[in-house]
Amino acid sequence: MDSRNKLEGTPATVDAEIESFFSSAPPLKNRNGGPRRVVCVTSGGTTVPLEQRCVRYIDNFSSGHRGAASTEYFVKAGYAVIFLYRRGTCQPYCSSLPDDPLLECFESTNESNIQVLQEHSEAVKTAIVENRDAVKQGLLLKLPFTTIFEYLQILRIIALPMCNLGPNAIFYLAAAVSDFYVPWQSMAEHKIQSASGPLNMQLAQVPKMLSVLRRDWAPLAFCISFKLETDSKILLEKADAALKKYNMNMVVANELSTRKEEVVVVTSEEKILVRRNKAMGVDEVENPLIQLIVERHSAYMESSNQ
Ligand code: PMT
Repeated sequence: MDSRNKLEGTPATVDAEIESFFSSAPPLKNRNGGPRRVVCVTSGGTTVPLEQRCVRYIDNFSSGHRGAASTEYFVKAGYAVIFLYRRGTCQPYCSSLPDDPLLECFESTNESNIQVLQEHSEAVKTAIVENRDAVKQGLLLKLPFTTIFEYLQILRIIALPMCNLGPNAIFYLAAAVSDFYVPWQSMAEHKIQSASGPLNMQLAQVPKMLSVLRRDWAPLAFCISFKLETDSKILLEKADAALKKYNMNMVVANELSTRKEEVVVVTSEEKILVRRNKAMGVDEVENPLIQLIVERHSAYMESSNQ
């Protein structure tokens, strides 16, 4: 029977054949022959629009530094990174550039020539080369979002195919995601008028997608969520609760004012303090953090494949 005829069977037979094709296919490999590891890094805060033709919105704080720096260390460790980031937030390989690189790094020497200013040339060169290398090797794909609607829809689009990677996939959910939103159908279409007096608005709760991600979208993936608090007294307790409630492999707990200095990685067995240490040449906390995650993920892959 030729393959065309075969695919014309009943829907159930076709489904079974498709399933059998994918489940028996050899796993995808990296160029170096090792199993392909993919991490989805989410970064930056989501907005909640108050009007469909949005003039005003509620925002969640995140500069995107954690996600951008972590992406660099994951790429260095050989992971392919899907970087799901809020438009306008920090980008991988750009941390040494000034705020407005286009205007601050270049000068116009005559009518047609533009050159990089000497003091920024090293930083510009490194950013361009490292970013291009990562993209060329297929290790970096950047996808932007702004609103909570875009973020969760794109996350789901990414998660479904990543499910096929089983334990080789990581979700590193550093984005600061809105807990409340205005459902699209009940949102004002046009700019809300201030002449109508004080604004009363009831926000609906955004479903916690961590449970859905773990249960339905990517049940075998290594899942890392974050917990941010401003009160250090409740931080570890909340991180522990999130670990159990959403069945995460790790929760990275951080306090707003010290988030660049230290984080605590909470797992079911231990709580590990990870610190940056300038004197020891560790100038970003993401460096030891990603090292620890790669170690734990390798062990997880090994135990899952036994
Ligand atoms: O970007 P920086 O300035 O460098 O700062 C980094 C950071 C402090 C933002 C980051 O390290 C961090 O902690 N991010 C998570 C912020 C947070 O508190 O998220 P949350 O409590 O809203 O959510 C906790 C987890 O649930 C997150 O992993 C989030 O992706 C997830 N979530 C949240 C809401 C929701 N409806 N569904 C979710 O899945």
